[in-house]
Amino acid sequence: MDWDAFIRPELQGMTPYAPGLRPEQVRERSGRDDVLKLSSNEYPLGPVPAAVEAMTAALSELNRYPDGACTELRKRLGMHWHVEQEVISVSNGSNELLRLLGQALLRPGDEVVHAWPSFVVYPTVARMYGAKPVAVPLTSDLRHDLPAMLAAITPATRMVVLCNPNNPTGTIYTRSEFQSFLAAVPAHVLVVIDEAYFEFADDACYPDGLAYFDGERPLAVLRTFSKIYSLAGQRVGYGFLPEPLRAAIDKVREPFNVNSVGQAGAIASLAVQQEIVRRKHENREQKTYLYSCFDRLGIGYVPSQANFVWMKTERPVEVFEALLQEGIIVRDFGNTPALRMSMGTPDDMRAVESALERIVKRLGSI
Ligand SMILES: Cc1ncc(COP(=O)(O)O)c(C=O)c1O
Repeated sequence: MDWDAFIRPELQGMTPYAPGLRPEQVRERSGRDDVLKLSSNEYPLGPVPAAVEAMTAALSELNRYPDGACTELRKRLGMHWHVEQEVISVSNGSNELLRLLGQALLRPGDEVVHAWPSFVVYPTVARMYGAKPVAVPLTSDLRHDLPAMLAAITPATRMVVLCNPNNPTGTIYTRSEFQSFLAAVPAHVLVVIDEAYFEFADDACYPDGLAYFDGERPLAVLRTFSKIYSLAGQRVGYGFLPEPLRAAIDKVREPFNVNSVGQAGAIASLAVQQEIVRRKHENREQKTYLYSCFDRLGIGYVPSQANFVWMKTERPVEVFEALLQEGIIVRDFGNTPALRMSMGTPDDMRAVESALERIVKRLGSI
C-alpha cells in the first residue's frame, strides 16, 4: 500500500501535537518523587469540591449517553454570561471547537491569519483543512501586532484568530487596540478570539471579547473549563458564535462530543464563582512572588495576564534540563530564548525559587 498517496496530502507536512513531558516520565528519568508539572498551564489545585461531588454522582449513569445538546450546561452558561443559549456551543475542550470551526468554514486555498508565537493549534487547524496559515510575528514586546494582522488579510482570508491573553507570552492586546482592529476587519473574515485564560486577566485595559459579540457580526469567542476551573482532564470548552455558525458546528460535531461527567463538573463549577475569584487572586500572588524571585536572580520575564510566565533565558536548553533535574517540568520552545512556566501552589513556587537559586549559582547568569 502506498500510504503517502492514500492519506490526505494536507497531512503530509504536519507533525502531531507534542505535549510536554509527563511527571511519570520525569520520575522515571530522574529517580525523583517530587516532580512538579508546570508545563501545561493547568490550575495547580483539583476541581472544586462541588464539581468532584457532581462528577462522582454522574459516574453511576455512565451506561447512558450524555446529553448531546448540553442543554443544562448551555442554559447555565447563558444565564451566567447573559446571552441566549442559541449562540453557545459546548465542545470537547475549546481545542475541539477550534477544529470544528475549521471543519465548518475552511476550504483549500483559504487563509487563516494568526499571531506567532501563539497557540500551536491555530496553524494546525488551518493545514488540516487545506488552508494556509499566515503567521504574523508578535511585536518586540511580545504582543499581538493587530495592525500587521489587519495588513495580512487578503480576499482569501477566512479567519483571523486572536489569543488574549496570548499563550505562550501571557501578553494582551488592549481594548482600544482591539476596537480599532474590529472596526477595520473586512466583513468576509471571521474573528475568533481565544480567551482560554480570560478569568486570570486583571489589567484594566483587557477587552472582554464577549462585550463585542452581538450575534450578527462574524465574531466568535472561545473559553474553557480547563484552566481556572481545573477540569482539563474532563475536556469541556465552549464558545459564543452567531447562531447560523453554531448550527453549522452542530452538523459537523460528533453527536455526543461532551461527556456526561464533564458536563456535570462544569455545571457545578459555574455555581461557585467566589472560589474562581479567590483562584484569580491566588494566581496573581504567585506571579508577584515569582517576579520578585526573577528580579532578585537577574532573570528576565514578561509580565503576564495569564497563569503562566514567559521567562527569558539565553540558554533555554540548558536551563530546561537543569529545571528537569530539579524535578520541575516547564515548556520549552526549541531554541527560542525563553521557557514558559505555569503557576503552581505557594509551596510549588517556593520550590521553584530554591531550584532557580541553585541553577543560577551553578550556571552563572541564565
Ligand atoms: C490559548 C489556548 N486555547 C485553547 C486551549 C485548549 O484548551 P482546552 O483544554 O479547552 O481544549 C489551550 C490549552 O492550553 C490554550 O492555551
